[in-house]
Amino acid sequence: MDEDRDEFRRVLLVGFMGSGKTTVGRILADRLGWEFLDFDRLIAGRTGMSVEALFEAEGEDAFREVEGRIGEECLERDQAVLAPGGGWAARHGRMEELPAGTLSVWLDVTPEEAVRRAGRDREIRPLLAVPDPLIRARDLLAQRREWYRKARFAVDTVERTPDEVADAVLRRMSR
Ligand code: S3P
Repeated sequence: MDEDRDEFRRVLLVGFMGSGKTTVGRILADRLGWEFLDFDRLIAGRTGMSVEALFEAEGEDAFREVEGRIGEECLERDQAVLAPGGGWAARHGRMEELPAGTLSVWLDVTPEEAVRRAGRDREIRPLLAVPDPLIRARDLLAQRREWYRKARFAVDTVERTPDEVADAVLRRMSR
């Protein structure tokens, strides 16, 4: 039995780059009338640098530190849809110690589709800006799956539109 069934106060979308966290998150927030919190945007707002520039100027560790602080703040919000970057979940304690009332959802995507979608976006993902992004994506996803799968609910995004993914999450919330 799901102890939080009637009282989800926030939705946390985890998953790999290109899984649709931002697109689906916006749709969900809109449908629920909730706030949408995109971690990468908040990080850019706080540091005054894009994610790409922050990686370049201060390195991944500095990025992860700000990301961790933003995550703690966002997880205190109610009536909010949270979209962390793909690496946020892959740290001990994050997925295991989510506050009550959080519906964690894994938006699943294959490495092939992730790379295809990332190539279409204007945003540059430093971790995929390598000579062979598919090998990198396969490798990273293999390391991260164990974290993503700790989410309460998973939705395969490969054969679904963002609207259909959002519908699946909403159905899960009202079950
Ligand atoms: C990252 C994912 C990116 C961004 C940064 C690092 C990752 O966000 O936070 O480039 O480690 O997977 P998206 O998952 O929104 O692309």
